[in-house]
Amino acid sequence: MKVLVIGSGGREHAIVWKLSQSRLVDKIYCAPGNAGIAGMAECVDIDLSDFTNILDFVKYEWIDLTIVGPEEPLSRGIADAFEKEGRRIFAPDKDGAMLETSKTFCKDFMRKYRIPTADYKVFTSYLHAEDYVRLKGLPIVIKADGLAAGKGVFIPSTFDEAREALKIIMKDRAFGAAGDRVVIEDCLQGEEASYMAFTDGKTIVPMVSSQDHKRIFDNDKGPNTGGMGTYSPAPVVTPDVEEKIMEKVMRPTLEGLKRENIKYKGVLYAGLMIKDGEPSVLEFNCRFGDPETQVILTRLKSDLAEVALAVSEERLSDINVEWHDDSAVCVVLASGGYPGSYEKGKVIKGLKEAAALENVTVFHAGTSFKGNDIATSGGRVLGVTALGSTIADAKKRAYEAVGKISFDGMQFRRDISDKALRRIQESGS
Ligand code: AMP
Ligand code: GLY
Repeated sequence: MKVLVIGSGGREHAIVWKLSQSRLVDKIYCAPGNAGIAGMAECVDIDLSDFTNILDFVKYEWIDLTIVGPEEPLSRGIADAFEKEGRRIFAPDKDGAMLETSKTFCKDFMRKYRIPTADYKVFTSYLHAEDYVRLKGLPIVIKADGLAAGKGVFIPSTFDEAREALKIIMKDRAFGAAGDRVVIEDCLQGEEASYMAFTDGKTIVPMVSSQDHKRIFDNDKGPNTGGMGTYSPAPVVTPDVEEKIMEKVMRPTLEGLKRENIKYKGVLYAGLMIKDGEPSVLEFNCRFGDPETQVILTRLKSDLAEVALAVSEERLSDINVEWHDDSAVCVVLASGGYPGSYEKGKVIKGLKEAAALENVTVFHAGTSFKGNDIATSGGRVLGVTALGSTIADAKKRAYEAVGKISFDGMQFRRDISDKALRRIQESGS
C-alpha cells in the first residue's frame, strides 16, 4: 500500500523509518519531510494549509493511508476532511484534538470523568486571574488555553513573575486567541513520564512508557524546549503504576470520549506527573510525542502500518501489538542558541559514521540539503537514538554515536537517561 506521512520533524522520520520496514508498504510519501526522510520516502511539497490540496494528492496518487505527525493540522480538522471523503487517516478529528488544543476543554473533561489532575480554575478576566493567584499563593501554574508551541505554560517563582505571565497571555496577547482564557492550576510535585496509547475509539492499546527532557540544559536547567531527549522504558512507570495509568487515566478517557460522541482514532498521549505511585495528568496530546516517538517506535516489534491501518479501520482489537524488551535512548542535537534564535545552514559532519554503529539510528528533524551536504535548518536538528539491553547500554551507544557528529554551534544534553539510571540504582534492580 501507499502511505502519506504529514510533518517534517524527528517524530515523522521515526514514523517513516518504521513504515519503511513494513511488508505492507510499497511506497511512502512525506509532506514536507526533511533531508533524512528523503532517503526513505518521496518528499512532496504540498500546501498543507489547504486540505483540498492534500486530498487531491491522496486521490491522484491512490494513497491508502495518511498518518499525521503534528497537532496543527489536527486542530484545523484534517481528519474530519478525510473522513468526509471516505479516505483512511490515522488521526483524531477536530473535537478529539480539543484534548490538546484547549486546556479548558481538557481540564473540564477530566473533572467530568474523574480523571486525576491538578485542581484548577479558568479565567477570562485579567483582574480576576490576578486576584486568584494572590489568594492561592505560590507555587502555581499558569497556562494559556490554546496551542502556544510549548511556550504557553508558566511556573512563576514570584508574584511579579505570575503577574508578568498573566500579562503576556491576557494583555500582550502573545499567543493570540490561545490566550482568550487562562487555566490556573495547582503545582504538582513528582516525576514526569509520557504514556501513549493507540486507539481506534473502541479499543485502547498501550505503548511502552517513556520520559522526555524538556529543559535545554543538564539537570533540568534553563528554558523549556520541544524536548532534548528521551528514554524508554521509564522506570518510574512500574507495572503497578502502569496499571493505574490504564485504569484511572487511559480507559476513563476513552469512555469519556465515547460518551461525548467523539470518534477518537490515532494516538492518545498523556503527559503525567507521578508521585508516590499515583499518576496525575498534566496534559493530553492527540498525536505521537516528539522526541518520545523516536524511542517508542525503535522498540515497536509489530508492523506500524498494520497497526495504523487497523486503527483507521476501527479493528484494533483484532491485532496484537508487540514490543522489544530492549531499552532505547534518544539524544537530541540542537542548533546553538536554541530555544532562542539560532543560525541555520551549518553543515553536519559524521552522519554516516554515527549511523554505521550497531543499534544506532539517527533521526533527522531540522535538516535540509546544501549542495551535496546535509545542513541544519531548524532548532532541533537530529535525534540520535540507540537500542541496548539496558538503559545504561543504550545510553552508552547513543552518546558514542553523538561523539561522531558535529556541526557549528551544536548543543546537546549530556545527562539524558541519568534520572532513570539513578532510579534503577536506588531500587536495587
Ligand atoms: P503542559 O504543556 O501542560 O504539559 O505543561 C508543560 C510543562 O509544564 C509540563 O511538562 C510540566 O513540566 C509543567 N507543568 C504543567 N502543569 C504542571 C502542574 N500542574 N504542576 C507542575 N508542573 C506542571
Ligand atoms: N515531547 C512532548 C511533546 O511531544 O509534546
